[in-house]
Amino acid sequence: MATQTMSLWESAVAFGERTMGFARRILPPLVADTAAAVRGMVATDPFERLIQEHRQVDAMLQRLTDGIDAPNAWRIALFMRFKRAMTKHSLAEEDIVYPALHDEVRDQKGSKSLYEEHAEIKIHMAEVEHALLNEDPQWRRHVRSLHEVLARHMRHEEEEEFPKMRSVLGEERQRTMSAEIRREERMVI
Ligand SMILES: [Fe+2]
Ligand SMILES: [Fe+2]
Repeated sequence: MATQTMSLWESAVAFGERTMGFARRILPPLVADTAAAVRGMVATDPFERLIQEHRQVDAMLQRLTDGIDAPNAWRIALFMRFKRAMTKHSLAEEDIVYPALHDEVRDQKGSKSLYEEHAEIKIHMAEVEHALLNEDPQWRRHVRSLHEVLARHMRHEEEEEFPKMRSVLGEERQRTMSAEIRREERMVI
């Protein structure tokens, strides 16, 4: 089973390279281009950086859903990229942002609910990964569920918790938080 799983992932990586032409034909422009355009702004504003990352992972899930006619190996390769981006983002939030919300903004309830939402997202991610690796014909249903849960969580952060943090934390603290987030994200290769 382990051998079979490895070969699926390995072939997905190799396949990712070969299918770039296919990807360009069916996909909208990559959000990464947008990220480059706002690079200057996200360097010092921790919340802009996190919101930009939200747009990137959201676009990846949308592309996964839209790739209904794509080969399964292409879907697995895309999901691997999504998983890596989510891991970096979640690590920074859980180690830097949510503790600051808890201790510095003194919003214990908000902090706890964000940790709980991350746990829920991880369960849905595991379901999508399992469905893709097993070529489950219901894979799109799992992706849609994940997308809904993730979108709700991102709205919660962007519309409630991040504005709260922005209003309490000073400019200098936000600058140091940006550096801490960058350092944390570099821990995931
Ligand atoms: Fe989050
Ligand atoms: Fe987030």
